[in-house]
Amino acid sequence: MRTPLVVGNWKMHGGIAEARELALAVRDGLKRPRGVEVVVCPPFTALPAVAEVLAGSPIGWGAQNAHWEDKGAFTGEISPVMLVELRCRLVILGHSERRHLFRETDEEINRKVAAALRHGLTPLLCVGETAEERRQGLTFTVVEGQLRAGLAGLGSPQMERCLLAYEPVWAIGTGVNATPAQAAEVHGYLRGLVSELASKEVAQSLRILYGGSVKADNAAALTQEPDIDGALVGGASLQAPGFITIARKSAAKGGPAKE
Ligand code: PGA
Repeated sequence: MRTPLVVGNWKMHGGIAEARELALAVRDGLKRPRGVEVVVCPPFTALPAVAEVLAGSPIGWGAQNAHWEDKGAFTGEISPVMLVELRCRLVILGHSERRHLFRETDEEINRKVAAALRHGLTPLLCVGETAEERRQGLTFTVVEGQLRAGLAGLGSPQMERCLLAYEPVWAIGTGVNATPAQAAEVHGYLRGLVSELASKEVAQSLRILYGGSVKADNAAALTQEPDIDGALVGGASLQAPGFITIARKSAAKGGPAKE
């Protein structure tokens, strides 16, 4: 049984006042979300304000990145311990913007995943191919490499505590989403890999979100695919009404969760 999850990735948008306003609107628009879990990931500077607004509500909050060390001389970095202090529920790791713009490697992402787990944070590990890689028929090879490397060294109980997101790079911020069939094919492949790496049970319980130009008008078609367990939403998470609609449309139909 997997309850769909919708995560808003606000990226580097908004100051504290805007974040507070957006969090309030999401909270008030989703007072009792049914059949779906919702988490927002504001910029680091807005996390305390967002935590204050959302505390006691069903909406969770998380971060967009974290370092692998607990503390030390790492100028500009944020440690998982700091995120725990702010009661973050999850942390996005290996986002394609981190991989491509900031040259994060699979090995670094793996260390971050392990560190998040060590501190009781849920890592949301992102994988996805570029347009060129898809053209060359390398989609499965690329996502498999990223998944195996990202989860390297973890045991089944640790993998069970992870979340995955399939985010084709060509779909992020472009307005061109993967079709439900394209996404479902990769999600099925990833679930098969998790079954191999951990177990069938872990693979069945692990939530795999789709990300890349998710909007109010395509969320339902994507998340009704059996292997798509929710959405990681960038641009469309910055406007409360649209984000709320995405969350509602991603809810499991006819019950609190899908099998
Ligand atoms: P997008 O971004 O929804 O704006 O395409 C998704 C993401 O980067 O997580």
